[in-house]
Amino acid sequence: MNADERFLVTGALGCIGSWTVRQLAEAGTPLVAADIGDDRQRWRLLDPSLEDRVTIVECDVTDAEGFFRLVERHRITHIVHLAALQVPFVRARPMQGARVNVEGVAVVLEAARRASGQVRGLSLASSIAVYGEADRYGDSPLPHDAPAAPTTLYGAYKQANEWMARIYAADYGVPSITLRPAVVYGPGRDQGLTSSPTLAMLAAAVGRPYHIAWGGSAAYQHAADVAAAFVAAARAAADGPSDAYNLPGETATMEEVVEAIREVAGDGPRITFEPSPLPFPSAFDASPLERRLGRVHTTPLREGIRQTVAAFREAAAAGRIDPDRLLAA
Ligand SMILES: NC(=O)c1ccc[n+]([C@@H]2O[C@H](COP(=O)([O-])OP(=O)(O)OC[C@H]3O[C@@H](n4cnc5c(N)ncnc54)[C@H](O)[C@@H]3O)[C@@H](O)[C@H]2O)c1
Repeated sequence: MNADERFLVTGALGCIGSWTVRQLAEAGTPLVAADIGDDRQRWRLLDPSLEDRVTIVECDVTDAEGFFRLVERHRITHIVHLAALQVPFVRARPMQGARVNVEGVAVVLEAARRASGQVRGLSLASSIAVYGEADRYGDSPLPHDAPAAPTTLYGAYKQANEWMARIYAADYGVPSITLRPAVVYGPGRDQGLTSSPTLAMLAAAVGRPYHIAWGGSAAYQHAADVAAAFVAAARAAADGPSDAYNLPGETATMEEVVEAIREVAGDGPRITFEPSPLPFPSAFDASPLERRLGRVHTTPLREGIRQTVAAFREAAAAGRIDPDRLLAA
């Protein structure tokens, strides 16, 4: 860490945002946490002291002037842009999805352009949802430059963002690294298409049954590892091309995930799942990213499940989460 760094994290109250804020705060890196919402339940789950240590700034990433002022006023040097609406929310409200997920990225890139010389690096969140169904591709881990073929508006918007970022680098010299998380799991993951394995871990931790709406193989990434990669990417953005990369993860079948949850949580009400797989590939070549960032830490899936179940049990016992509300969502 450089003493003069000042990070801005958007979507700071979300899952990956909460982990990013926690890691930056623990490292003593000055940061501004920005989100449109004000519900700090994920911060309380991860670290009850976080609320007292980090100020949250209300910010709508579609408000360009407000965002430019925020970057200028706080003399931001690095931006981790995570604010977005996830697949079901974009599907329900496509126009709002375009505003937040596409216009929001345009605002962040433009803010970095206007503050060039001050903002040194940017990391942006894309998704493996830019890819098509697994059978379009071969069996080997998917290269980061495999052709995109999104099957959702969410994926199409993310694909547009990847190109906006490349063109902002080429035309205006705004350095960024875009990361494509896969199935992120861990404490704080409670909304979006792929949150159900984590909700199953919560259900098992508190002795409730749970049904996951999909199955098949998927690439799992612990939210802590993903957050660390976003921070490293913002720092490394200026050191090479502004491109989009896949993250390392552990590929597992839903049978394996459910069995690991049962082993970790003990026998209890059943966790069941639908056999239909997600419409994405399930193994990714992360070596181009690791050439940029160095080794990206990957928590072994079974260990990540153990930590997640333990965190949920502790938080539920302390009254820091409401499992019924989370499981009903
Ligand atoms: N979680 C995953 O598995 C996954 C996978 C691939 C990509 N991603 C991407 O990673 C990023 C972070 O994901 P997450 O799981 O933390 O999401 P999340 O849904 O948990 O959090 C998103 C946050 O963005 C905030 N937000 C929404 N609209 C906003 C606006 N207009 N202005 C400011 N803040 C706003 C929300 O209040 C929320 O706190 C997103 O861009 C997401 O698309 C996530």
